[in-house]
Amino acid sequence: MDFKAKITGVGSAFPKTKVTNKDISDFIVEYGEHTDDQWIRDRTGIISRRISEKGNPDEYNSALGTKASLLALEMAGKKAMDVELIIYATASPDTQLPSTACWLQNNIGADLAWGFDLNAACSGFVYGLTVGSQFIQTGSVRTVLVVGVDVVSSLVNWTDRNSCILFGDGAGAAVLERADDNTSGKIIDYRMLSNGKQWSLFHVEAGGSKLQITNDLILQNKNKMSMNGKEIFKVAVRTLADFALKILEKNNYTIDDLDWFVPHQANMRIIEAVARRIKIPMDRVVVNVERCGNTSAATIPTALDEAVRDNRIKKGQLVLLGAFGAGITFGSVLIRW
Ligand code: UT7
Repeated sequence: MDFKAKITGVGSAFPKTKVTNKDISDFIVEYGEHTDDQWIRDRTGIISRRISEKGNPDEYNSALGTKASLLALEMAGKKAMDVELIIYATASPDTQLPSTACWLQNNIGADLAWGFDLNAACSGFVYGLTVGSQFIQTGSVRTVLVVGVDVVSSLVNWTDRNSCILFGDGAGAAVLERADDNTSGKIIDYRMLSNGKQWSLFHVEAGGSKLQITNDLILQNKNKMSMNGKEIFKVAVRTLADFALKILEKNNYTIDDLDWFVPHQANMRIIEAVARRIKIPMDRVVVNVERCGNTSAATIPTALDEAVRDNRIKKGQLVLLGAFGAGITFGSVLIRW
């Protein structure tokens, strides 16, 4: 048996609070650091992002994931009870135990599903799509819910102006189903790679079993993310472009055949540099980083959701997703929409 998977519904959700660059500049000065709106805009393209209100159950990771999932199910015309598998991509779960997939399952009442969390940082959603489509391909399940959510604000070191300016919170989801007609509307191919040798470019040192949290470590922000922005920038541009060209070539397409490129929304300069390298005009690239910041596993599904709902992405078009994240992880997924 070799079935194909197709995306039949997408959805997204964000917390209420909008945080501007000025809000961050005003805040960071308390730590003896300096930044300003212009620097952040010029270097990242980001103008604002949404940040979850801590302690508000409506803005927990799983609550945002629930809103996005219900919208995706509605678009697909499916009920929670139709879902057989939940793949929940996140690096900022509600709790260590149980998995956020279980919190979501309980919230939406997907009582017939099984599910698990998948941590590939910002590449989580494309890893999730790839894993989900394998289960559909073998005929093992017909309906998978793939969710990409991060409350990155819980991992951000708010005293580090190099990284805290970049991130936001958000949630995106997609319903994957078995394609009845294998000629259109399907996931065509994927290309994935992790490079654990580059773990130190982007990591959270404490909080796992390797280095359990102590008060001292908290004071040193060791339970927060540490990032080598310059190096990630270079690796991201090179690899995203390389993956895009290789997956197209493998499937006998050129960049001219591509209707939409939906890259990880990390930084406008990274997105533009990749677009220049692969020679795709920016009007065929989906971007929401200016309003959302880098929402990690949620960047691609939220951008996809916007472009589907405002009718930019249309049935029959060729769409390429391209992700990179901590690990380092990379992934591209090619879709005939
Ligand atoms: O999902 C993956 C997540 N991570 C990323 O995507 C990170 C990718 N990297 C980046 O986005 C960029 O490297 C940054 C935006 C983080 C930094 O941009 P950059 O062009 O690499 O800046 P830089 O590190 O070369 O810094 C330029 C200058 C430095 O001053 P000097 O040494 O030239 O005097 C920094 O000290 O800007 C200074 N600087 C800042 N100034 C104002 C660094 N951060 C800030 C800031 N505000 N927030």
